[in-house]
Amino acid sequence: MKKIAILGSTGSIGKSTLEVIKHLDNEFSVFALAAKSNYHLLAQQILETNPKVVVTSDKKTKDELFRLIKHKKKNITILTGEQGLIEIATASNTDILVIAMSGIAGISALIKAIEKRKRIAFSTKELLVSFGDIIMAKVKKYNAEILPIDSELVGLHQCLDNRSANDVKEIIITASGGPFRNYTNFGNITVADALKHPVWKMGRKITVDSATLANKGLEVIESSRLFSIPSDKIKVLIHPQSIVHSMVKFVDNTVMSALSLPDMRVCIQYALTYPNRKPSLVGNLDLSEHKMLEFYRPNFIRFPLLRTAYQVAKTGGIEPCIFNAANETAVNAFLEGKIKFDKISEIVKKVLSHFTNIKNPSLPALIQYDKQAAEYTEKLINICQ
Ligand SMILES: NC(=O)c1ccc[n+]([C@@H]2O[C@H](COP(=O)([O-])OP(=O)(O)OC[C@H]3O[C@@H](n4cnc5c(N)ncnc54)[C@H](OP(=O)(O)O)[C@@H]3O)[C@@H](O)[C@H]2O)c1
Repeated sequence: MKKIAILGSTGSIGKSTLEVIKHLDNEFSVFALAAKSNYHLLAQQILETNPKVVVTSDKKTKDELFRLIKHKKKNITILTGEQGLIEIATASNTDILVIAMSGIAGISALIKAIEKRKRIAFSTKELLVSFGDIIMAKVKKYNAEILPIDSELVGLHQCLDNRSANDVKEIIITASGGPFRNYTNFGNITVADALKHPVWKMGRKITVDSATLANKGLEVIESSRLFSIPSDKIKVLIHPQSIVHSMVKFVDNTVMSALSLPDMRVCIQYALTYPNRKPSLVGNLDLSEHKMLEFYRPNFIRFPLLRTAYQVAKTGGIEPCIFNAANETAVNAFLEGKIKFDKISEIVKKVLSHFTNIKNPSLPALIQYDKQAAEYTEKLINICQ
């Protein structure tokens, strides 16, 4: 029985991970859960999955959680903050660490888990975007195992199957195109419009990123770092049906591709059971029922964040980190009604041009740049209002 710790158990990926664990309950059990502030759902998850340790972001949330579970669950440790995340990530009882938190707060826990050679099932693309070189150098040094959860990267992991990068001509990741695939007027888009994703049901931030195609840009950077493929060998295709997740074209022009119904549970299960396969909760894919599988080139003019992501992927240094921090802050401002949808890309570009790039930044330097970029983005947001 493998024991799992989930950072971000109350989010979209976290909840799906718990469904997969329940489905494979003769193989996996929950050792630890962590969330930020949703103590109501965390309490419910504790009673359902019986973890030994949980982590919340601060004392206030810890006290609220304790109040809800104290009469029903006795032998549980409640920790808080970054130190709590590190403790569950490195605990000898954690066989698999699922990183499903939004944002970059899990970076120290991730690095410590790599050093302990834990199996890491990884969905938080912001971490690989901002700190990709440092994370992958650690993975190499400690010979650690890091498996993606993102559907496009799971597809690539299967197609690449540890083959040499020299065999690869290009890799292709697909995007549904989001709700505004055919829009031309981006100024009047409301938060409710942006949160209506045509295919996937996800957290709010990634749903807006899918609507701007920043999500695909983040995945270009993430794939480049995880698989050591230069970003100019990574192509994006819009594929509204979201059945084909990614493809690898080899130097002989053979293309291998990964297909499944769009459901993150099969991707999460892949990362937990790899290299084994088990029946999953995801429906049967019968291609005769999918008469049309369409593919289009993305429009870099209407979706400028995708172009910016390619630029920062190529430049490297601190730019991917600045891009991620500015985008996250601008998306949150859009979600709070502070800025219009089309301002997100404008602001990200302005923030990038404010910083002078440096090569090979250290982790503490990147954490500082993330903070400074978020602060500068806030400044620009206040000017917009
Ligand atoms: N959703 C998808 O289908 C999908 C697909 C591919 C990749 N991803 C990536 O997976 C990550 C999570 O996405 P999501 O859609 O699941 O996000 P989400 O629904 O917004 O959930 C985020 C989770 O992270 C927790 N969290 C945030 N900050 C934390 C902190 N400082 N300490 C502990 N927990 C913290 C949240 O806790 P609270 O609930 O308490 O706030 C919540 O459990 C993102 O990086 C996203 O890009 C998601």
